[in-house]
Amino acid sequence: MADQPAKSRFRIFVTRPIVDGPFSQLNNCDLEVWNGDAPPTYEQLSEKVRGVDGLICTITDNIDDKLMNAAGPQLKVISNYGVGFNHIDVAAATKHGIKVGNTPDALTEATADIAAGLILMCARRLMESSLSIPKGEWKTWEPLGFLGHDLAGKTLGIVGMGRIGYALARRFARGWDMKVVYTSRSDKPDANRDLGAKRVSLDELLAVSDVVSVHTNLSAETKYLFDKSAFAKMKPSSIFINTARGSVHNQKDLYEALKNNVIASAGLDVTDPEPIPLDDPLLTLSNCVILPHIGSATFETRTRMTQIVVDNLKAGLAGQTLPCAVN
Ligand code: DGY
Repeated sequence: MADQPAKSRFRIFVTRPIVDGPFSQLNNCDLEVWNGDAPPTYEQLSEKVRGVDGLICTITDNIDDKLMNAAGPQLKVISNYGVGFNHIDVAAATKHGIKVGNTPDALTEATADIAAGLILMCARRLMESSLSIPKGEWKTWEPLGFLGHDLAGKTLGIVGMGRIGYALARRFARGWDMKVVYTSRSDKPDANRDLGAKRVSLDELLAVSDVVSVHTNLSAETKYLFDKSAFAKMKPSSIFINTARGSVHNQKDLYEALKNNVIASAGLDVTDPEPIPLDDPLLTLSNCVILPHIGSATFETRTRMTQIVVDNLKAGLAGQTLPCAVN
């Protein structure tokens, strides 16, 4: 059979409207952007990907083997708008010869800021105290009201010392003089040297930390890592922060730990599932601050993410190595 002529135009499906300035660089692409208020359902997505050369997806899309089959053999590249890719079957993509890219780096500082914000909200009871005002509870200055905990000089435990974990540790080691301990597959000489950080076992981290902040990928190894037994190993005065993925904690166990003062408070930018159901008991607790997964939500960060998504897509369509390759 004669070789197919190289394509001069590509069909791309984008599963959500995103900050789109860098899309102007895709002049050899016909883009269709899903414009529903909610993400496409799996069935809708299976229809939309049929015949596309490239797919720009987000963390709410389930990109599995069946979906790749539905797309067809011309699908060359899946460019994910986000760093986490647990919603993509990367092994299946590799089997289909599809390149997968993500957006590391772009969102490091923004996500570390949200983790830092949650730490402050928990340590100083910012949500509770602010919400007391519209309820008419601010009657006078209270010598015993809303007592929280100092952070200066305390210990921050980073579970997963990757880019975001390091960025958070840097903020609190330098700004608050916190001691930093961390878990990681390998020792991190930069963190040890520049932040005075120390790699320890998870059990030691749980025992010594005043704040425990999760920055791991979601994998079989980390799913429900924070369960009843992990919370029981933490200090009763400690704060649990999760800005990574909701299923790294067991939500029922977290509720019990907060309710029964096994730990003091929690700040979450991620829940399991998302959105958190309105009848989830966590929402009844004043010592649990929950944000709607806004770690990367700044104009600058989301624009940088689109630029990487575009760069990955262009490379994938040209048959080149992606600048931020997952497989
Ligand atoms: C990611 O990129 O994985 C975040 O969770 C969403 O921006």
